[in-house]
Amino acid sequence: MNLTTTPHSNLSGSIVCPGDKSISQRAVIIGALMNQDLEIEGFLHAQDPLSTVFALNQMGAGITIDQSGIVKLTKRSAIFTQPSAPLDLGNSGTGLRLLLGVAAGLGHTISFNGDVSLSKRPMKRVIDPLLEMGANMTSADGMLPISVLPSTLRNKFLYELPVASAQVKSAVLLAGLASGNAITVVEPIQTRDHTERMLKSFGVNLEITQHDKKNIISLYPGSFLEPKILQVVGDISSAAFLIVGALISKSKKLHISNVGMNPSRTGLLDVLRMMGANIEIKNSRIQSGEPVADLVILESSLKGVEIAGNIIPNIIDEIPILSIAAAFADGNTLIKDAAELRVKESDRLLSISKGFEKLGIKHENFDDGMRIFGNNDLSKMDGPVSIDSYDDHRIAMSFLIAGIKCSSPIEVKECDNILTSFPNFTEITSSLGYAIA
Ligand code: S3P
Repeated sequence: MNLTTTPHSNLSGSIVCPGDKSISQRAVIIGALMNQDLEIEGFLHAQDPLSTVFALNQMGAGITIDQSGIVKLTKRSAIFTQPSAPLDLGNSGTGLRLLLGVAAGLGHTISFNGDVSLSKRPMKRVIDPLLEMGANMTSADGMLPISVLPSTLRNKFLYELPVASAQVKSAVLLAGLASGNAITVVEPIQTRDHTERMLKSFGVNLEITQHDKKNIISLYPGSFLEPKILQVVGDISSAAFLIVGALISKSKKLHISNVGMNPSRTGLLDVLRMMGANIEIKNSRIQSGEPVADLVILESSLKGVEIAGNIIPNIIDEIPILSIAAAFADGNTLIKDAAELRVKESDRLLSISKGFEKLGIKHENFDDGMRIFGNNDLSKMDGPVSIDSYDDHRIAMSFLIAGIKCSSPIEVKECDNILTSFPNFTEITSSLGYAIA
């Protein structure tokens, strides 16, 4: 499916933020491990969390979804059964990496595969610590297809993360939880901490301390997991597209309620505020262990900034849309230390650069980032432009949002991938005054 933008639009009005993808995935995985009655409200019904649900159901989790979209788990006699076919995680890096940890912890024979993009992504970062823990796994040179074979994991394993990755951290913690072994993960750079918050809210014995500016996260077995109702907060990574769309189109006011405000995810707001964005945070509250608030985005003028260092993992999924904000800001923006973008659903630094070339947006590429020359004026284009999404949802949505500043329609190719994280994206943009079809 290709999508085309409507020139001369803006994004204003009021919407409720769709559910968080990272938290939705963790809710079903940790919920299934908990093996108690659980209701999950606000679940993101997108392809990635749903492929995780299907994979868990192949393992006997018995997860159901009622007509109002509430996800239900009920206590089972056997926590998991051995799946008879490989688990297909589709496009979902989070689903795959977290379930590799669970599978290694369970010691069942489970095979995994996924789509073309997921099959090219590095899994050695998860396989290596699990092998060190005592797992028995085979892979295609550190990539899919991967099989987990029966084994017994080590108790009191300690692992220091060599890459700043919440998925690797979570996989190792879940291997400990599923196997009933104590485990300690040392995290030199803060990454999103949804797994830790959710485990704690379920009553797992998890201790987090700081030493030499590193997080030391220790999980102990024998903890009591309480049955719960879990409410998934809205996804700031999805809100990001609407926030930037409103800012670059100089909308008077956009109100987004129910946005997750976990400090390990709100770097986007810090960067946009540094750029000059006027964003109000209202009605801050806590929902199932996660901070959440309503955002009001007001008309602002943006300027270029430098983005580098420890903030990168916090904004890793927002860099594509931040680079669109940078293209229309006053002055230049420098993005460094973001080589991790090369191993996401596409090589995102390359995908952004290719799209920029199509739009004539001046930029310089580096191995770990780019310099974006701002002040681009696309109000006098010669005609429509067609841009490749590289089958990457965040690239597709970023360039569809860029279209709001273009005097001619922008066509973004192969946008089905948007269904992996933000299925009602075009419905929401259209309801806010920016038709994309
Ligand atoms: C995620 C962590 C991030 C992020 C991904 C979701 C998660 O990846 O890019 O979209 O749910 O844990 P890393 O594990 O590389 O930090």
